Amino acid sequence: MIATVRPARKLEGEIAVPGDKSISHRALMLGAIADGGSRVRGLSPGADVESTASCLRALGVEIEDTRIEGRGLRSLRAAAGPLDCGNSGTTMRLLAGLLAAQPFESELAGDESLARRPMGRVVDPLREMGAAASWPPLRVGGRAPLNGIEYRMPLASAQVKSALLLAGLYAEGMTTVVEPVATRDHTEIMLAAMGADLTRDGLGVTLAATERLEPLDITVPGDFSAAAFWIAGAGLFAGSRVELAGVGVNPTRTAFADTLSAIGFRIERRNPRLEADEAVADLAIGGAQALRPLRVEGTMAAEMIDELPVLAVVATQIAGTSVISGAAELKLKESDRLAAMEEGLTAMGADIVATDDGWTITGPRVLEGARVESHGDHRIAMALAIAGLIADGKTEIEDAECVEISYPAFFDHLEYLC
Ligand code: S3P
Repeated sequence: MIATVRPARKLEGEIAVPGDKSISHRALMLGAIADGGSRVRGLSPGADVESTASCLRALGVEIEDTRIEGRGLRSLRAAAGPLDCGNSGTTMRLLAGLLAAQPFESELAGDESLARRPMGRVVDPLREMGAAASWPPLRVGGRAPLNGIEYRMPLASAQVKSALLLAGLYAEGMTTVVEPVATRDHTEIMLAAMGADLTRDGLGVTLAATERLEPLDITVPGDFSAAAFWIAGAGLFAGSRVELAGVGVNPTRTAFADTLSAIGFRIERRNPRLEADEAVADLAIGGAQALRPLRVEGTMAAEMIDELPVLAVVATQIAGTSVISGAAELKLKESDRLAAMEEGLTAMGADIVATDDGWTITGPRVLEGARVESHGDHRIAMALAIAGLIADGKTEIEDAECVEISYPAFFDHLEYLC
């Protein structure tokens, strides 16, 4: 599908973004091994989370609407064939951890994009834990029990951390994971709420094996990474007024908002509250003023890894040179996001150069509508759509149906807000 985006004058209105994708994957997986039925309202409607649900069904778990019939830690059954993780790296990596600890072997497969993504980062530490694990193709499980390890992660990855914690639920002795920078901690929050024996100390988290997890009864907060597109879009028009209801504002997810606030965006948090032990607020975004160039360096990129494509769009509108670095991981996402954004924004007339680990972007540039390629990557399609709103003329985004991965209503919301 080709999506056509026309220039907007401002963004205005109130919407609720979809349920958080990261929390949804975790709620399904942990609900599946809880003792008894869980209720999870507001799951992400995206295809990625559906991939997790269908893998879990293949492992014998009943999932119906908001209800997950937990089978307990030791009653998953071997699937009849390879588990199809679709486009979802989170499904593949987190399930690799959970399934590495099972007495049966599983094979995890995915689409063309996922098949290209690195899995050694989970396979290596799982083997250190004594698991049978190999890749490619990704095969895990069949050799239990595992042993706990202390693992100092060589890279910042919430997926790897979470995979090891899921395996650690089944390991003899303690499992400790130490991260180079604090990545999203939804797994830790959920495990603690379910009664797991988990302690945190700075960048380290230690987990003991458990016999039983309490079921969940939660509402999933709105996805901050989905909200990011409207935060950026609204800020780029003087007369905007966008309200986003019930957005997850866990501090491990909001570095993007902090960075934009520091350069002149107006992002207000209202009605702060807790849902599912996660911080939630309604966000009100107005037009930004007198933007200053962006400098993202060191570990900052890891804290807003999914928001960087749309941050690049913002940088095209800032006077001066913005530098985004420390983001080499973007080459290993659903597409090479460094190259994809350089290509798309260059086609629209931006001054953007991809470096080894980020971009250098000089603005402000008046963008021109163009025909651009999403590379089948949902976040590229949505970031280029936001670029289309501020461009002159029409922007056509190829393979735009990939927004289904995380945000099926994205183009409806875009139309509504314009
Ligand atoms: C995610 C972690 C991040 C992020 C992805 C979701 C998660 O990946 O990019 O969209 O739910 O744990 P990495 O762990 O590879 O950084």
